[in-house]
Amino acid sequence: MQTAQSLTSISGLPRLEARMLLEMVLGKPREWLLAHDTDLIAPDAAAQFLTLAAQRRQGTPMAHLVGHREFMGHRLRVSADVLIPRPETELLVEMALQSLDDSAVRFLPGTASGNGAGCSLLDLGTGSGAVAISVALARPSVRVVATDLSQTALVLAQKNAQQLEARIQFWRGNWYEALPPEGRFDVIVSNPPYIALNDPHLSQGDLRFEPVGALTDGADGLTALRHIISGAPQHLTAGGWLWLEHGYEQGEEVTQLLLKAGFNAVQTKQDLAGLPRITGGSL
Ligand SMILES: C[S@@+](CC[C@H](N)C(=O)[O-])C[C@H]1O[C@@H](n2cnc3c(N)ncnc32)[C@H](O)[C@@H]1O
Repeated sequence: MQTAQSLTSISGLPRLEARMLLEMVLGKPREWLLAHDTDLIAPDAAAQFLTLAAQRRQGTPMAHLVGHREFMGHRLRVSADVLIPRPETELLVEMALQSLDDSAVRFLPGTASGNGAGCSLLDLGTGSGAVAISVALARPSVRVVATDLSQTALVLAQKNAQQLEARIQFWRGNWYEALPPEGRFDVIVSNPPYIALNDPHLSQGDLRFEPVGALTDGADGLTALRHIISGAPQHLTAGGWLWLEHGYEQGEEVTQLLLKAGFNAVQTKQDLAGLPRITGGSL
């Protein structure tokens, strides 16, 4: 019989990944595992662990094996139907919150901090719901609407919203076409598919296991960004903000598209790796 320690060392995985899989198989928290490192593990649990370890060695993302990923401190369920939320997308949430608070101050002059009160946000291509849910939980008084083309993504996003008690309206459809006719938004955010079809990254790492429609536009990587930017003026309030995540080499192109569409205060923010990742502007 094996112990947690011996299973970890024969798994061929980094220690942290092996521990996460053991925690899941044994249904025990990290602290228990650390204190019982040399306990014998039941053969069926050990076999289950070794199967998962083999899948991981073949490249299956950790998030698919454990079924969830942390984003903005929230545990989101993920599956092969959605993009695995990335840490750099947290910056998109931060910019959205800042813009909502600024908009609320415009509505309620004299208040020190807007807290997004009375404002609305649209998340286009919500995937697991990561961005919309994080905003809805951080600013419960904001009306949050989220869309996706993928029905299976929307089902998962709805489950995540329900589980985390986030109030969000979900609509299915092609970008703005998903929305009912009435209403404009104070902030629109999107992390659209922006990888060019010929980008070799598509056949590397976690990307091999994620839905192709979440990753690439099937063309030069800018199709969805162009569409979202050109349609935004018809869906934003005066002074409203549009924030977009993009590839680290697309900052200048997105800036030009925003300026051409009439946006002001256009600015690009860098992600944790110091790469241009989020660009936005106000109307
Ligand atoms: C890069 S993923 C982003 C998912 C999530 N917002 C996140 O940041 O983790 C892009 C999302 O856009 C959706 N999408 C792709 N084409 C779309 C379209 N034409 N209309 C609406 N959503 C679309 C995909 O299904 C996918 O969920």
